[in-house]
Amino acid sequence: MKIETSSASPLEHGTPALVIGYFQDAKGELFSQCDAALDGLLERLAATKELNGKHNSTRLIHTMGRLPAERLLLVGLGKQGELTGERLRQGAGNAMQALRGVRVASFASALHLSGTSDSAVEAVCTGALLGSYTFDAYKTKEKEERFSFDTMTILFAEGGNEGAHAAVQRAEAICNAVQLTRNLVSHPGNVVTPAYLSATARELSERYGLGCRVLEMDELKELRLNALIAVGKGSVELPRLVTLEYRGGEEKDPPVVLVGKGVTFDSGGISIKPGQGMEAMKMDMAGAAAVLGTLQAVAEMKLAVNVVGIIPTAENMPDSNAFKPGDVLTAMSGTTIEITNTDAEGRLILCDALHYALTNYKPSLMIDLATLTGACVVALGHEASGIMGNNAELVEALKGAGERCGERIWELPLWDEYGEAMKSEIADLKNAGSRDGGTINAGWFLKQFVGSTPWAHLDIAGTAWTDKARPYTPKGATGVGVRLLIEYLSSK
Ligand code: BES
Ligand code: MN
Ligand code: ZN
Repeated sequence: MKIETSSASPLEHGTPALVIGYFQDAKGELFSQCDAALDGLLERLAATKELNGKHNSTRLIHTMGRLPAERLLLVGLGKQGELTGERLRQGAGNAMQALRGVRVASFASALHLSGTSDSAVEAVCTGALLGSYTFDAYKTKEKEERFSFDTMTILFAEGGNEGAHAAVQRAEAICNAVQLTRNLVSHPGNVVTPAYLSATARELSERYGLGCRVLEMDELKELRLNALIAVGKGSVELPRLVTLEYRGGEEKDPPVVLVGKGVTFDSGGISIKPGQGMEAMKMDMAGAAAVLGTLQAVAEMKLAVNVVGIIPTAENMPDSNAFKPGDVLTAMSGTTIEITNTDAEGRLILCDALHYALTNYKPSLMIDLATLTGACVVALGHEASGIMGNNAELVEALKGAGERCGERIWELPLWDEYGEAMKSEIADLKNAGSRDGGTINAGWFLKQFVGSTPWAHLDIAGTAWTDKARPYTPKGATGVGVRLLIEYLSSK
């Protein structure tokens, strides 16, 4: 969907639909003006509570030629004093679902007037762009009947200052990146392979002039990334380590390193998963997709930071060449690991990537994102990502960013005692403990590979995919992580 801007007044602008916001406890000037044009219809509906302003409510009204807009879409925003960016994003997302229902592809919006400042403009654009997303790359039938949005015209009553236009551009840059991430996660495992993720990184590097390296099997062997190799060697789709470098900060400043789990399909390997629901494991590269999306947004927005994305990527398959329970491997760091479950593969590819990051980039801090444990879905459901780390300041900053952008995160502890579960009889560590505290066990395992560098680990197993449509997050891949990281990096 395109976004255009206009300095027309909402009451004078001709459009198939005009979107306006109102509150439970305050209707606002525009509402009253529309009400007057509609001979008091809106107040009559308000009197019978058919228009109640409740958060997440929408109501579509035909204007019967009484306004230049053919339809008025009223978006409830809750109580005025409780308005947040998240409510505006949700309001805009709800508007998109209502417009989709009546197949209105182009419309005008004055929703931002319910908020204050340019951040309201950004929130409305974000909710609308993310809410308009669909993934139909594999639908060959009824193409022409499929609906897609065309243009949203933002009505800037006062012509729109520079800040408001910049807010539109920011929303577009970020939402395009979220779209890249959602697409990568939505495509099936026979398309998005380690080679495909590498090609995507190369494309980004060419488009934005980023540094890019793809380490293939011979180099992985030479550098002894044996944990990554072990996970990938049971598949004909060979593993890779992809790095993507953006330099927007001072030359001398050490970079922020973002690491994303890129398991393009997780069958569990020899410790194979049950068949039921296994198809969902095409999304096990959502961390990698979020890192690629974040690098695209950072480059598009020209943020003044140095950021390196690192993606260990592999397909976890059972095969005569696959790694197996009981195997002992020596990770790049020299730590020996006994494999007790080949389905605990994410931490293996991540431990080599984290060590590689540490030794090659001496980062100021590292953040990894991974669909790492089913236990995290049990603990937090689908409302929050889990976070663990070795640095309270970094964890707090990420929690704050999550709160602001609507990608909530919740901390779990990483006390030393949790390490008991990961001690092996035969090697330094084992890769899987008992099911108890499974998310923390995995986090504790990763902590052994980051040294004293500030680090945070985000477990996005429950948030990378949604089976339930939300106001601005349709069913399917959510693109979680991109907006969180951009919010964090731009407020640093
Ligand atoms: N990719 C899975 C975790 C996962 C589960 C992601 C559900 C998204 C939704 C991960 O590789 C895995 O299999 N973890 C195991 C670890 C266990 C064997 C210690 C798990 O959670 O069962
Ligand atoms: Mn697994
Ligand atoms: Zn996995």
